Amino acid sequence: MEPLVDLTALGADFARDPYPVYARLRERGPVHHVLSDDGEVWLVVGYDAVREALADPRLHKDWRLRMSPQEAAGLPDISANMLESDVPRHTRLRRLVTREFTARRIAALAPRIRRITDDLLDAMLAAPGRRANLVEALAFPLPITVICELLGVPDLERDDFRAWSHEVVSPTTPEAEEAATAAMGRYLDELIEDKRVQPRGDDLLGALIRTREEDGDALSRQELIGMAFLLLVAGHETTVNLLANGMLALLSHPDQLAALRAGPDTLLDGAVEEMLRYDGPVETSTFRFTTEPVEIHGVPVPAGAVVRVVISSAERDPARFDAPDTFDIRRDTQGHLAFGHGIHYCLGAPLARLEGRIAVRALLDRCPDLALDGEARDWRQGLLIRGPGVLPVRW
Ligand code: HEM
Repeated sequence: MEPLVDLTALGADFARDPYPVYARLRERGPVHHVLSDDGEVWLVVGYDAVREALADPRLHKDWRLRMSPQEAAGLPDISANMLESDVPRHTRLRRLVTREFTARRIAALAPRIRRITDDLLDAMLAAPGRRANLVEALAFPLPITVICELLGVPDLERDDFRAWSHEVVSPTTPEAEEAATAAMGRYLDELIEDKRVQPRGDDLLGALIRTREEDGDALSRQELIGMAFLLLVAGHETTVNLLANGMLALLSHPDQLAALRAGPDTLLDGAVEEMLRYDGPVETSTFRFTTEPVEIHGVPVPAGAVVRVVISSAERDPARFDAPDTFDIRRDTQGHLAFGHGIHYCLGAPLARLEGRIAVRALLDRCPDLALDGEARDWRQGLLIRGPGVLPVRW
């Protein structure tokens, strides 16, 4: 077995810019046994291997396969979600939500997303000093407002929720992660019960609750909590960083910014796809694991191994994309893997794209002199999510 590469020794530089490390690993082979903050994991880094691994049914997601029945019974409610399921539970959960998470429901959100974006930009542009942290001013509040309205979560304690969600996605300590998981589960349980007793409006959570009650193939109480949790967390932790990483890339490349300003009607959609490819929000897939020895792209991986599929490395693989480290809004980005691949392909991709296009367009239209005002900083720890906490801009 090849010697372990120690990612934990790389510190803050790795969080700020992991791409050179992934490039070195890619040159040595498609799959590596490494030490990360989450312990020993197998990293898949080459484009072909990443695409293959994301759709490989031998790489499981249902933790119960690794547990005794007693341990499985102790799993938190929120883990009964499709991103932590294999076939056939995954198939059933995905079908139930797809029925409600329709293209029509998403497209109907466009005017509301524009309104929320405009209100946030009104507030930002009124700030004294013509300076802001774009993450706080727009990238964070926009997606969480949209996903809460879509689901029908009116009075969510946003600050609490943000802290729990951050902890679940980029844990600081196992204890803090457990506490956040429990708090989030309790909150969602109460919310769902409240909506069940007093249905209001035509929101997604209400529709899913009705599915639970009307359909023979219904969602259990736990599955409903798991679904609400997954949609809320996946719906905002990621889109924040499409906007933050994407605007950082655009503002750092004045030629690309000028081209987009000159032809937004034709170039905007491609620019958002390139933002997703060049520096996407999901650095590494969620956990997968083996239950028997397998070969991933020819590399033997033992039974019981935890596997992380490095999407951001695949996106910079020169074997797949020409000059992959160049940010080029006119390039053909087809085949990028920012939304994953296979049965867990992102359910929210159409919503994320819609939010990305509306927000980038509004920023260009309303802030003709928008520029970076210092370095992006406070990069997210952990392998899952990539993005800065602070993106200073001026106008
Ligand atoms: C730019 C924004 C987004 C990116 C880059 C992104 C990326 C991803 C990726 C890579 C996966 C697969 C993870 C894996 O296989 O380990 C995924 C799954 C998922 N995403 Fe997204 N996502 C985004 C926005 C959203 C939004 C807005 C929603 C919801 C409203 C959402 C809901 C989901 C769900 C439910 C899954 C699990 C699907 C399944 O297991 O079948 N995502 N996303």
